[in-house]
Amino acid sequence: MSISTVIAITYLVSAALFILGLKRLSHPETAPGGNRMAAVGMLLAVAATLLDEKILSFTWIVIGVLVGGLIGTVMARTVKMTAMPEMVAVFNGFGGAASGLVAVAEFLRISGSGETMAADAGVSIMAGTIIGTVTFSGSLIAFGKLQGSVTGNPVQNAGLRLLAIALGLGVLGAAGYLIMAEIDPRVYWGLVGAALILGVLFVIAIGGGDMPVVVALLNSYSGLAASAAGFVLGNNALIISGALVGASGLILTSIMCRAMNRSLSNVLFSAFGSATAAGSSADDGDKVATPIEAEDTAMILAYANQVVFVPGYGLAVAQAQHKIRELADLLTARGVSVRYCVHPVAGRMPGHMNVLLAEANVPYDQLCEPDDVNPDMENIDVTVVVGANDVVNPLARDDASSPIAGMPIIECDRAKSCIVIKRSLSAGYAGIDNPLFYKSNNRMFFGDAADALGRIAEEVKEL
Ligand code: TAP
Repeated sequence: MSISTVIAITYLVSAALFILGLKRLSHPETAPGGNRMAAVGMLLAVAATLLDEKILSFTWIVIGVLVGGLIGTVMARTVKMTAMPEMVAVFNGFGGAASGLVAVAEFLRISGSGETMAADAGVSIMAGTIIGTVTFSGSLIAFGKLQGSVTGNPVQNAGLRLLAIALGLGVLGAAGYLIMAEIDPRVYWGLVGAALILGVLFVIAIGGGDMPVVVALLNSYSGLAASAAGFVLGNNALIISGALVGASGLILTSIMCRAMNRSLSNVLFSAFGSATAAGSSADDGDKVATPIEAEDTAMILAYANQVVFVPGYGLAVAQAQHKIRELADLLTARGVSVRYCVHPVAGRMPGHMNVLLAEANVPYDQLCEPDDVNPDMENIDVTVVVGANDVVNPLARDDASSPIAGMPIIECDRAKSCIVIKRSLSAGYAGIDNPLFYKSNNRMFFGDAADALGRIAEEVKEL
């Protein structure tokens, strides 16, 4: 069997492992196995690629692996859980840049050698350059917005929109010219510059709060850029894995939009979720929120039959995942049935709460979804909302004019009783008041989530 056949078969096996691995990632219990399966697929693909005679310099490969490995290890070890979206944004940008550079290198090789560029190679090179470049600059702006170094407000006006349209048309025109007419490096560098600016204009126009959705979309773009790079290099494994990343990024984007009951165009072209939209609202008028302390909370929880914890963004801010598990364990030991109900958009990135709860080794069988608890809500003794706000806001169900109207929620207001743990009556991400706080069956436990859960656990131990 020739070496090229061995490589082709290995790529096929690794593609199958990627697909099976992705499938297994859809459930927390099978996800670690799926991750390992995809990792083995990647190992095989890398090994097959190294067998390829077209590889010229192992020195550069070793340097790349060492430098990349070092940067990746340091970042993964030092990143805070709440800064995960920023890290994903940067990694998408690096992925886009790497794919774009493959296209740039191939263009420079062709223009330097005086060869003509075949139409199919030209399309791959231009697609790789444009998508990779837009992904790179867009991801850097997304990173800046998430981190706070770039304004969270949407920056858009008629002039910028016109500029974006003009640049978009210019980029397409330049690509067509380079493929069909002449290989002119000056036109090519103009295209690269215009695509970089396009990436900036695309993301800067979106509010900081919507960055997680944008990051998922950019993730999909980085996959498409990798796929285009695969066509440039004639590498089937890269084409397939890039397409898988592109498709899963799009599916993730659509899941996030659906869970927020918003369309993708609404996310991309409206200012919802911007820093300006977020404000705080407090106990004004005749609305009164009734506070509760640790001792009473402990009594209510310890003598309940069914308790449902609802974690939200505040749990991540307070890093309270271990404290919530500790309290849940104490209650379970007393015979209370405990579940954690995770809303798909709780927190600030997909799977945010699942990652935190998995870190605290919360048993999978205690995890559930809104549809598992909502139909039976009247029979649940206590729902404990820990640093969540929008995902339990009844306005989404009751007020058609609310900015979150139609967003599926966890209907804690319908439980026998509810306790909300947060520091104040301030609004959440959507910037709107929450009538749940003022309901007669609700009590507010004011404080940092980790501290509050710790104090309640101490009181439960005393009972
Ligand atoms: P939010 O509605 O954002 O509310 C979080 C609450 O946590 C705040 O009201 C805040 O109140 C509280 N908090 C902050 N720090 C805390 C701490 N140390 N201890 C206790 N509480 C603390 O969160 P949510 O209910 O998880 O909803 C998520 C929102 O983000 C949704 O609107 C969703 O559409 C949006 N979003 C989510 C995603 C993804 S993928 N998850 C992506 C984009 C947008 P205090 O300041 O009073 O403490």
